[in-house]
Amino acid sequence: MSANADLLARRIASIPRGVSVATGVFAARAENAEIWDIEGKRYVDFAGGIAVLNTGHRHPKVMAAVKAQLEAYTHTAFQVMAYEPYVALCERLNAIAPFKGQAKTILFTTGAEAAENAVKIARAATGRSAVIAFTGGFHGRTMMTMALTGKIAPYKRAFGPMPGEVFHVPFPIPHYGVTAEDSLKALQFLFKADVDPARVAAIIVEPVQGEGGFHTVPRELFAALRRICDENGILLIADEIQSGFARTGKMFAIEHSGVEPDLVTVAKSLAGGFPLAGVIGRAALMDAAEPGGLGGTYAGSPVSCAAALAVLDVIEEEKLLARADAIGARLRERLAQASRRNDLAPIAQVRGPGAMIAFDLVKTRGGNEPDPDMAKKVTARALESGLVLLSCGIYGETIRILVPLTASDALIGEGLDILETALRVN
Ligand SMILES: Cc1ncc(COP(=O)(O)O)c(C=O)c1O
Repeated sequence: MSANADLLARRIASIPRGVSVATGVFAARAENAEIWDIEGKRYVDFAGGIAVLNTGHRHPKVMAAVKAQLEAYTHTAFQVMAYEPYVALCERLNAIAPFKGQAKTILFTTGAEAAENAVKIARAATGRSAVIAFTGGFHGRTMMTMALTGKIAPYKRAFGPMPGEVFHVPFPIPHYGVTAEDSLKALQFLFKADVDPARVAAIIVEPVQGEGGFHTVPRELFAALRRICDENGILLIADEIQSGFARTGKMFAIEHSGVEPDLVTVAKSLAGGFPLAGVIGRAALMDAAEPGGLGGTYAGSPVSCAAALAVLDVIEEEKLLARADAIGARLRERLAQASRRNDLAPIAQVRGPGAMIAFDLVKTRGGNEPDPDMAKKVTARALESGLVLLSCGIYGETIRILVPLTASDALIGEGLDILETALRVN
């Protein structure tokens, strides 16, 4: 039995299937946009640990900052004895908050925890209970974020009842027949039929849906949501956990919309591979919860804070906002070419801002009928040929590219060549 097959058998025997198996291979080491498995096979990484590695695996600056922190202290619990890296990071995040006026930031460990706490802060600040989210949205797997997540299988089935006071409106995907106008109409119906807007604490939305398939909130919908929030005293939460930290060519994806949120959830690429999350918000709202009401034993680990401070330096020094645009232009061009080729599986809807790029596998060229089986085949073939690639989307029909923004042109080209081979119809 091969080393990977042996470890896969041990994994299946010892770990519940609820943590799904995307690949049957196991990591041995990784560097920037490359991973080697335990059998020595090399992979180009277009997954970035699910949007965590905008600055690549083990960026030298991040590693140096972490090593220095490890030599000083690794844990005190911020609420017991605080430390400078947490404070310095919150100052940096406040300075880049995508809204005008004073900001405050609190740190957590996982994305779901950030989304949970954004809801808690919104409830404390407004004295209201209800939260509105979107179909196809993904906000996490904890009890409240599972309820916010707009997809039943596999996230919600068998885990009910859901926490109350969570409502969904359709996310606009015009090629599946839902327009921004439909979304707004549904919101008005919701206000008439199910929940008084005066009881709504917040609307939470991903400026670009991640797991849902890299669909962007149209500008006019964002503007309308902001107006509806302002008219009704509702807070607007931007979930930037997947779209943040230069992925879209801006520090936060909502900056493309011209709309300012009240609260922003961050995680993933914030700390370049170390567990860290946060809520950035308008200062007046952030102080609503009483002392002790927010936090967590490991929340804002000093090791992760040191990593995050280095990540923010790297984004600036290596001009990763511009790099995301350049990578995105290259990906879009290659995928547009691929969409015209008859020897490749039919692909459609190449989309996404900056380097947050995705496309759908469809049954027929020029059509929109999703082909999730082909998407599965493409990711499996890509892995076989040395490319780690993720699918997503409502039907699992979407291929998304989350290559580190620090990857060289040559490596991205190599990944695209493998992707093209994986798309070939025999
Ligand atoms: C937009 C968004 N919100 C929340 C989460 C949950 O983050 P975590 O898996 O760290 O709990 C994710 C994870 O994929 C995400 O993409």
